[in-house]
Amino acid sequence: MRENILLTRDLGDVFDSILEIYKTIEQDRNRRNSDKELKDICLEYMQETSRIYRYDLPRESDRVDFSDPLKQWSYMFVYTLRHVDLVSYALDATSDIGILKDSDACCSPTVCMIGGGPGSDVLGLSIHLREHGHTAPMSSRLHVLDKYTEWQGTWQLFHQHLPERFNLAIPEMKYHAFDFEDNDLSLEHQEIVKSSNIVTMIKSLSPVAAWLRTRKKLNRDGVETDDCTSVFEWHSVFSILKHMKPGAFLLYIDNRTGPQRRILMDALECFDFEILYDHVLDGRQFLSNSVFSVSARVFMIEFGYNPCTVAGINEVILLKKKPYSENFVDVDSILDS
Ligand SMILES: C[S@@+](CC[C@H](N)C(=O)[O-])C[C@H]1O[C@@H](n2cnc3c(N)ncnc32)[C@H](O)[C@@H]1O
Repeated sequence: MRENILLTRDLGDVFDSILEIYKTIEQDRNRRNSDKELKDICLEYMQETSRIYRYDLPRESDRVDFSDPLKQWSYMFVYTLRHVDLVSYALDATSDIGILKDSDACCSPTVCMIGGGPGSDVLGLSIHLREHGHTAPMSSRLHVLDKYTEWQGTWQLFHQHLPERFNLAIPEMKYHAFDFEDNDLSLEHQEIVKSSNIVTMIKSLSPVAAWLRTRKKLNRDGVETDDCTSVFEWHSVFSILKHMKPGAFLLYIDNRTGPQRRILMDALECFDFEILYDHVLDGRQFLSNSVFSVSARVFMIEFGYNPCTVAGINEVILLKKKPYSENFVDVDSILDS
């Protein structure tokens, strides 16, 4: 747990903004005389989402349909604040070796958020940069690659309700349809990844990674096999690492358990990355209740549900090194062989 007045204020304001989104949705529904209680729907979705995420999403049916704005909000209520905190935690922990040491990455960076959904990744980054004196707005090249581009509308609402210091720091984000289950990146996605100083993958690989357990494995020739490396099954992760430019950072945060770390590490073996940080957070690193404003606490009591403040998490920060060092593996020759 980190105690820091500025961080506490930032996190409290982020959560209050999430509650403001709820009020906007509520007013809209009242105008339209919706029959079912908004609170009951959201409570049901929160319970469902928490249950699914608790068990690493082992079944394909255990996917959250984030095209539904109420499922988005319910997810945000439970998880967004924790994820914003996790991002800033990992970046703070590497402040002497990480992005703060790279002028391109810490001043107006170009960022690509894979599965960035509600924008937790960029909010955590923004808090980290501002805390370390980088107050210039981020570049206008903030991209989210996500299966559900419906997040864009929710992000716009979120952005409107965030305090000005966030609003000014984070210009408009562009959402692009992307699915981890499609092996190759489109040319547009390749360009986005290539131009990014920072790529984030925050809790976005686990929803698809666990699916590997229920899926028949294919080798490179499309033949079913029991012994296949994830590099060829999960080419999208491999492609992301491949297209990142030398000097770019990858911030990966995901559950401690589940196959996603293996997928990332298998793909990593084919490239020359330096592991700057590889850390497991357990229940002792929790989010303090002091971040919640008085009105947020009242809301939580009335709602009868609390956001997630603790999680077993693996945080990894990688730096892509120059391509022609002696450890470099020629990726194209692997793919062509
Ligand atoms: C657990 S949320 C994490 C969101 C955000 N990074 C955070 O930390 O709050 C998972 C995200 O992955 C996205 N997602 C789910 N399945 C996906 C897929 N197959 N390909 C790409 N993104 C996916 C969801 O829309 C959602 O934004």
